Amino acid sequence: MKVLIAEDYNEMSKKASDILFHAIVTNKKVVLGLATGGTPITTYDLLVESIKASKQSLTHVHTINLDEYVGLQSDCRHSYHRFMEEHLFQHISIPTNQTHLPNGATTDLHIECQRYEELIASHGGIDLQLLGIGKNGHIGFNEPGTSFLTNTHIVNLTPSTIKANARFFSSIDEVPKQAITMGISTIMKSKCILLLASGKSKATAIKELLEGQITEKCPATILQKHPDLIVVADKDALSEVKEDTLEKLGKVQNELFFTKTTFS
Ligand code: GLP
Repeated sequence: MKVLIAEDYNEMSKKASDILFHAIVTNKKVVLGLATGGTPITTYDLLVESIKASKQSLTHVHTINLDEYVGLQSDCRHSYHRFMEEHLFQHISIPTNQTHLPNGATTDLHIECQRYEELIASHGGIDLQLLGIGKNGHIGFNEPGTSFLTNTHIVNLTPSTIKANARFFSSIDEVPKQAITMGISTIMKSKCILLLASGKSKATAIKELLEGQITEKCPATILQKHPDLIVVADKDALSEVKEDTLEKLGKVQNELFFTKTTFS
């Protein structure tokens, strides 16, 4: 594990976007696992800027998103499909047939889960998986108590996640109660994981991730076992973590180390 410390949200976003851009530039084919939520928004803005400034071709880039709400059509303004369009896809030119999200509007959700696993396998797995983290330690939509052995599956969202995500909807009643998400096992198979966290509201989850016992009660703790995990967090998100822990885990001052990750 490597922990990259940022002053604040903007610096976290810059470091994360530099890592993503590096992965795009240095690979002949790259499969990016992408995430939604408030955390990666500026990362995507900065990535768009870097891609435009360098006129980088994206024909070799494939994207596979972590999750989607159940019951929302892809063009619904609250869907994760729309989120990805608005924050990334419409600004750059990844071929449309190379961008993938789960279809939460299908009538057979179980077949959709299987299809999604097969889709990931048919791409040779995910090279770099971007993750945020929920206040309760959820990753993707894998809520506390989810088995570490899960593949892509349907979840019932917890009241705390529904409440946290209500800020993107007009009212809490509009937040879907279910989602389709890559499972913990799916996420763990990614060759490299880049987890982002910003702000005091994530401090307890980040402390658990870095210092806690590995337990299904806090899904993110399983990431301690991943062979190539990069955590980019700002000082507020790291405020409950002991300095000793950061030294032990391999605190790094800048993103140059990234040239040595396993999949590049
Ligand atoms: C949602 C998403 C997660 C995301 C988490 C944190 O539940 N499914 O992928 O990491 O919320 O969101 P935010 O970045 O807005 O704090």
